[in-house]
Amino acid sequence: MAERTPIIGGNWKMNLHRQEAVRLAKSLVERTGNPEPVEVVIFPPFPYLDAVGSVLASAGGNRIKLGAQNYYDQPNGAFTGEVSLSMLKDVDVQVVLAGHSERRHVIGENNELINRKVRAALDAGLQVVLCVGEKLEQRQLSQTDAVNAAQTQHGLAGVTPQQMDRVTIAYEPVWAIGTGKTASAGDAQQAHAAIRQTLTHMFSPEVAQAVRIQYGGSVKAANAAELLGQPDVDGGLIGGASLKADEFLAIINAAATQTQTALSSAL
Ligand code: PGA
Repeated sequence: MAERTPIIGGNWKMNLHRQEAVRLAKSLVERTGNPEPVEVVIFPPFPYLDAVGSVLASAGGNRIKLGAQNYYDQPNGAFTGEVSLSMLKDVDVQVVLAGHSERRHVIGENNELINRKVRAALDAGLQVVLCVGEKLEQRQLSQTDAVNAAQTQHGLAGVTPQQMDRVTIAYEPVWAIGTGKTASAGDAQQAHAAIRQTLTHMFSPEVAQAVRIQYGGSVKAANAAELLGQPDVDGGLIGGASLKADEFLAIINAAATQTQTALSSAL
């Protein structure tokens, strides 16, 4: 069993306003006593990064990391509406999302931009979650692994093996995001193993074994344990269920339980 610390992300997307965001962050820090060895990251909307970051910092230490949902790859300049990595670092963001399906398919980001963004964030010293995943019609044509491989290869082009220790892949089948439909645990495992295979070819077996691959797409407390129990599923990227403290905490606990089970069976 590879020793990969599970990573649970809460992608708040374009939801919540200031008071709700702060309240949710407070509730999470108060109730995540010591979730180690699970890494927890929350991704609030831009206007609330600072306020949420203050809540996380006031809890002391690094219990929950602050993440940003988006950014631009250029350092500064005439890019109306965009936010730079140095601005994010200024408000203590440690993790960024790149290639989320809503940015690919709703906003229209392509692989070339996603790759520039991944490399810029790594060069800036941040952790990056690269999201990949197939659309429903691609799954129906049995193209899941090919789509994931292509998005992984494009997204990580030019990334060094050393930088890979700050990269997480999130496998998020587009048809499962926000729909209440989840990939079966077996299908998720299969897709994750294939992505790890792609990483083996691109980098090395050692790098591939060390990279965490999260599953995303309608993960909730009720299905988390089964998904997280798969050998190549190293965490979850949670949208809707991350907006409710109870649900999100239950998912974090499911990940912690898996880790403890794995640790005790390795003894
Ligand atoms: P969901 O979103 O949990 O609401 O399906 C997951 C995501 O888009 O990261």
